[in-house]
Amino acid sequence: MPTQKRAFLLLPFGVALFFHTRRAERSHGPLETRTNMDDSLNFDTLAVRSGTARSDFNEHSEAIFLTSSFVFASAADAAEKFKNSEDNYTYSRFTNPTVTMFQDRLAALEGGEACMATASGMAAIMSVVMCALQAGDHLVSSQALFGSTLGMFSQIFTKFGITTTFVDPTDLDAWKNAVRSETKMFFLETPSNPLTEVSDIEAISKIAKAANALFVVDNCFCSPALQQPLKLGADVVMHSATKFLDGQGRVLGGALVGSKQFIMEKVFPFVRSAGPTLSAFNAWVLLKGMETLSLRVEKQSANALEIARWLETHPAVNRVFYPGLESHPQHALAMRQQKAGGAILSFELKGDTPEQMRANAWRVIDSTKICSITGNLGDTRTTITHPATTTHGRVTPEARAAAGISEGLIRLAVGLENAADIRGDLERGLAG
Ligand SMILES: Cc1ncc(COP(=O)(O)O)c(C=O)c1O
Repeated sequence: MPTQKRAFLLLPFGVALFFHTRRAERSHGPLETRTNMDDSLNFDTLAVRSGTARSDFNEHSEAIFLTSSFVFASAADAAEKFKNSEDNYTYSRFTNPTVTMFQDRLAALEGGEACMATASGMAAIMSVVMCALQAGDHLVSSQALFGSTLGMFSQIFTKFGITTTFVDPTDLDAWKNAVRSETKMFFLETPSNPLTEVSDIEAISKIAKAANALFVVDNCFCSPALQQPLKLGADVVMHSATKFLDGQGRVLGGALVGSKQFIMEKVFPFVRSAGPTLSAFNAWVLLKGMETLSLRVEKQSANALEIARWLETHPAVNRVFYPGLESHPQHALAMRQQKAGGAILSFELKGDTPEQMRANAWRVIDSTKICSITGNLGDTRTTITHPATTTHGRVTPEARAAAGISEGLIRLAVGLENAADIRGDLERGLAG
């Protein structure tokens, strides 16, 4: 038989041996997601090293296991592995080795016991609510949320009997007063999108604990490089991995990080059955993204601070929203809770009427040649958005007004370009 043909026929055995050996190598199952790295290592080391598991081929970079299912030695082997699908690789809607590596790495970076990856940030929000709440339960949530999250809470979950009370996230009494006997979850985004309001995670966690409510924090704006909510008392961290974890605007992804018990007993059974699973390819892209996370976020924060300071002095600008500025109402809290102000800032343009404010905002956006006009954020490339007509376009005008999102508001997610070049790009439109 020609060598090439023989090699082809032997391939399935090689693949089976590959997975078998790899599984045997691990001391724990796919969902016992603690990294084999020492947790006391520094963040930057964990970002490039944790979660990695090598096969017999000893590949240096993590492998992409693009397979929908896994083969078994026998019917009995299949039966056994399906019985414990959280501890074995059987089908990629349940578990997948590349996704496990992503989960292990993110759990290490957030300081959590376990992580469950999802197909997007919204899939993570859907999963945490569907697996932890049921009809009749009540949620207390910040009113300053990403538009789709707001829509899920106010329009989708209500169809299943889960109601939400929205509160000013910076008002601790409002969180306390919103609690009812049916309250089962608190949900917070800090800093908020797009106005960068910063809320006190530690103080809210105490109120949630007293109410016996699960405290979920969307950490997408900061990423674990700047803020680790679990260490401040949150029960679950939620991510849109689409943002800083990828960092280059390539793939969608999401995740929930928390205790092993919560992730394995509540989240995993839901994701395994409902299927909002992260693809192996996307998990691999995210693994690569996380390796440069802290370098990127540090530089993007420095760029954002420089641009925010400049905008604050600009005659065409009404107000700048950026936690790194001394003028930000929660600046002191932000500096305590976060390592830096972050990469995202918003600014409001002057104008006598909402129509004029919108026209001014659109002029600035349309005059840019470097910034990308797009809804994503956390990219190495600066992105510019008009929240009132895009990310928050489906929110009712009343809710937008209550949240302080005016027609003159522009959100800038600052990238890695030279800050002076971004300033020049904005100045073109600001100069009128
Ligand atoms: C703060 C925040 N949370 C959640 C999401 C949803 O994430 P995804 O687009 O990955 O579903 C976004 C998306 O922009 C976001 O900005």
